[in-house]
Amino acid sequence: MSPSPVTLQRDGDIAVLLIDNPPVNALGKSTVQGLIDALAAFQADATAHALVIACEGRTFVAGGDIAAFEDPDFSTVPYNSFLGRLEALDRPVVAAIHGTALGGGLELAMACHWRVALRGTRVGLPEVKLGLIPGSLGTQRLPRLAGPEKALQMMSTGRMVGDQEALAAGILDELCEGNVGDVRAAALQRARTLVAEGGAPRRTSALPVPTAGLAPGFLDQAVALAEAQFRYPALAAIARAVRAAASAPSFAEGEAAEAREFMGVLRTPQSQAMRHLFFAERQTGKIPGLPRDLPLRPVERVGVVGAGTMGGGIAMALANAGLPVVLVEATPEALERGLGLIRRNYEATVAKGKLAAGVAEKRIALITPSLAYEDLSQVDLVIEAVFEDMALKKDIAARLGRVVKPGAIIATNTSTLDVDQIAQASGRPADVLGMHFFSPANVMRLLEVVRGAKTDPAVLATVMKLAPRIGKVAVVSGVCYGFIGNRMAEVYMREAEFLLMEGATPAQVDGAVQTLGLAMGPCRMLDMAGIDVGAKTVIELGKTGGLPQDPSYRALVQALFAKGQFGQKTGAGYYRYEGRTPLPNPDTLALAESLAREHGIARRDDISDTEIVERLIYPMVNEGARILEEGIAYRGSDIDVVWTAGYGFPDHAGGPMCLADQRGLAHVVERLEHYARVRGNAHGYWSVSPLLRQRAAEGRPLSLGAN
Ligand code: COA
Repeated sequence: MSPSPVTLQRDGDIAVLLIDNPPVNALGKSTVQGLIDALAAFQADATAHALVIACEGRTFVAGGDIAAFEDPDFSTVPYNSFLGRLEALDRPVVAAIHGTALGGGLELAMACHWRVALRGTRVGLPEVKLGLIPGSLGTQRLPRLAGPEKALQMMSTGRMVGDQEALAAGILDELCEGNVGDVRAAALQRARTLVAEGGAPRRTSALPVPTAGLAPGFLDQAVALAEAQFRYPALAAIARAVRAAASAPSFAEGEAAEAREFMGVLRTPQSQAMRHLFFAERQTGKIPGLPRDLPLRPVERVGVVGAGTMGGGIAMALANAGLPVVLVEATPEALERGLGLIRRNYEATVAKGKLAAGVAEKRIALITPSLAYEDLSQVDLVIEAVFEDMALKKDIAARLGRVVKPGAIIATNTSTLDVDQIAQASGRPADVLGMHFFSPANVMRLLEVVRGAKTDPAVLATVMKLAPRIGKVAVVSGVCYGFIGNRMAEVYMREAEFLLMEGATPAQVDGAVQTLGLAMGPCRMLDMAGIDVGAKTVIELGKTGGLPQDPSYRALVQALFAKGQFGQKTGAGYYRYEGRTPLPNPDTLALAESLAREHGIARRDDISDTEIVERLIYPMVNEGARILEEGIAYRGSDIDVVWTAGYGFPDHAGGPMCLADQRGLAHVVERLEHYARVRGNAHGYWSVSPLLRQRAAEGRPLSLGAN
């Protein structure tokens, strides 16, 4: 039997309960049992005059063990009744907090009679980010300490609050300087003082919920507003639980209300999807076959080639992380333009009050403009971000291969081109990989890291480690056309265009997809990204023989491009625009109709939202399965991270692979086969991936963390 993660020790006449469950002292079954046992031992020992609760390692309890929620027998009852018994003790109980007291950790601290925290501690109830609500009396105790308005705000956003804010709000009682040892000493000191004072313990559950300052009807309105956000049922559950805290005649009744609300959200598909993403995002950095302790290359100075929208955004992402950047352009005009854009971007952030002017200046000062490749000789990493042209990218790779110092990493920000060819052109392919940023690169979280055939594992590991430093979640992709995201987006756009030629309107296609919670459908998305950009990609792919032998394939985007309808920037694309407002575009509808005639595509007036969703999403899932089959992605959960972090797929749907699992893989296979029958399958558009078929037959999910 493994030793309990909880021990009860003594410091003179005070008992010290220590939790040691690395990495973050999460509360799994054995920790909760350990707490229950330790409390019983304390209760049985009258010689201990008070109890201090503290944690080993980097943090106080950071919450319930999220993996434990998947257990069909999961219950909050044992932990909640432990908290009740803890708070009811008539000897003082003091929490010694450091790091992050989150979720069940803050709930533990709030059941103590006094909370001492080390400076720098942060506290929060982040359950909403998992589609959950605090289930261990957080919705009842936090409003008593911080007031219902603040509690609601904290729980609805999941935001962590800093030490000072928590102290001012009454969530913490005392801050102390120093280290973990000092906070424990301060807690012991406080425990002794409380014993000496001999007063009654201050129990949070016995405090009234301070409602005096609330506007009349505030909590009812909060509930109504939250209930309107039906895609996130946890929001309404939180609001109702807080209302119960303020209105229930007793703490026990509030507790019962919270328990009902918690169980109501625990098994929702939204929460399951968000929990899946929590682990999915933390797994992307684990690369099969790569030792965890592989020595990394240092990255302290970075170069960026190309100061366009992409290069500028990348330079900003790096500077935001405090990394000095040499930004190289070909001409003084282009360099000036790029710098102007960076400056304006920072100024806009300052104007919105999101950044102090002094900080913005420091970040701008980290970017050194240059017209000479030689200035890149000392950087540790250089990211090429010029436009998508193989000859140009190869030429730059060759120059970089000669100029940058040995051991420096050379990255290309291509979104579709063959990274292996670019690597070869550099003359040092082991140093090369792809870093595919998403626009705007200083904002979008996703980074696709493209592993070439010859990329040195240390180069890959170094860039994966750099990603969180620059605020990115990185997913590894093998080399293929479009990598993970754009390759899947291609089949999505293909079906969107066929549906338009068959008679659906852009608004209908977009509207149907938006029912899933995507912020924008495909037509709006391409109008914003630029029809020219989309069409050129198709045309370039055609030149390399990569398109199906189907003259109707993406015919509409190419025809719009030929007409100069480049989307929002020219005032017309799939839609026409008044300002930024998309309106129906009769020209595009007529164009789609004439293309349908030209290509023998039957027009219909019975296209339903269900058909649109199935025809856009299921081929994407099928393509994702092929990506897994080919080893382009390591795991289905990586694909979900690509789509949620980079393509606006809603977190409550968990990503396309998770959505397919939730709908049932057998159903997805059946629908693909159905469309193969009714639409024809001359070009293999509906051929089911063997992996998808196999998983459907086995009843194993596609969105697994490990395949
Ligand atoms: N349950 C289970 N595992 C957890 C966990 C939890 N509540 N919180 C963190 N972990 C795990 C992570 O999966 C990761 O595991 P890995 O190393 O095997 O990948 C490890 O702990 C470290 O977490 P990570 O997020 O990579 O570290 P960090 O230092 O960046 O952040 C936290 C630490 C605690 C701030 C962050 O992990 C967090 O926000 N956790 C969730 C807290 C939460 O939601 N609590 C309420 C649960 S109801």
